[in-house]
Amino acid sequence: MNKDDVYILAIESSCDDTSAAVLHNDKVLSNVVAGQEIHEEYGGVVPELASRAHQQNIVPVVHQALSKANIDKKQLSAIAFTRGPGLMGSLLVGTSFAKSLSLGLNIPLIEVNHMQAHILAHFIKEPETSMPEFPFLAMTISGGHTQIVKVNSHFDMEVIGETLDDAVGEAFDKSAKILGLPYPGGPLIDQYAKEGNPKAFSFPKPKVKDLNFSFSGFKTAVLYFIQKQTKENPKFIEENLNDICASIQHVIIDILIDKLKKASKQTGIKQIAIGGGVSANSGIRKTMKDCEKRFGWKSYIPKFEYTTDNAAMIGIVGYYKFLNDDFADIKTTAKARFAIDHA
Ligand code: KG4
Ligand code: ZN
Repeated sequence: MNKDDVYILAIESSCDDTSAAVLHNDKVLSNVVAGQEIHEEYGGVVPELASRAHQQNIVPVVHQALSKANIDKKQLSAIAFTRGPGLMGSLLVGTSFAKSLSLGLNIPLIEVNHMQAHILAHFIKEPETSMPEFPFLAMTISGGHTQIVKVNSHFDMEVIGETLDDAVGEAFDKSAKILGLPYPGGPLIDQYAKEGNPKAFSFPKPKVKDLNFSFSGFKTAVLYFIQKQTKENPKFIEENLNDICASIQHVIIDILIDKLKKASKQTGIKQIAIGGGVSANSGIRKTMKDCEKRFGWKSYIPKFEYTTDNAAMIGIVGYYKFLNDDFADIKTTAKARFAIDHA
């Protein structure tokens, strides 16, 4: 098998984005993402609607990825797909599609853990970003996960801290919902926060032991605060939206950075990466850069398009697995729960 010239077609369908990418070795030739606006009106992802939309999107998205990369499917070396974790109905679409295409083209199939992919996204070769050195710490912050992972090598990962309840993306999205903003509210909070005062309002930080997180109390604190304020002034949200968003974002970032500082101290590791949808947040991106000066860290922040769900990150894991001859059996099945350290 030629390992100098590897072409991977990658497919991601774990939640509400249908994505396909083509990689040549560790370089991305195309990365097409079709989002699903249908969930906006429901205030969150509706699993049944997500899997239906994946069914509709997958063929055109794969076609577009191949044509943008300007390659023929006969040139492909292997097909990588997200096996889990994620919504079962969504995962099944990508899994079945990848299995059928691998059979049809008679090329190997590679299964990928979505959360490993958020971390290994840092190994996509790009002119403007550098790759972390092992061992490094990776904080995965998304709509479904919040973990601190010690990354010893591409495939040796140890979870050293995680959320005991809500994920940080949920803290953003649920706070946004309380403010009457549509789903997903994380990017909107980020946008309004840019014009606001982060010290305008204060919210309590949870007291959680070790390197673990908790965000359910935070969301309740935001709810009670808004209920109290709007009782006194029904226009409170409207008149203070920027300041409320800036204050919410400020506390969430503080909670994340506190744990990263603790993890860095405990492990002695100063190479710190972030990954997952919430790493698109401009406040966390800026704070990570500031931490380089404050604590002597070398921080790694993915290129914007590799933060939220995308198939390019699935493709880079596919490439490294291809080099290791780590192929999946055609009988493989989607896995809604899939631990990062058992992938
Ligand atoms: O990784 P991702 O695309 O999907 C999951 O695997 O969950 O992450 C989606 C999460 C959502 O909660 C979304 O609100 C959040 O990432 N997010 C942001 C921003 N962009 C996306 N949160 C805060 N600020 C942003 N700019
Ligand atoms: Zn994700």
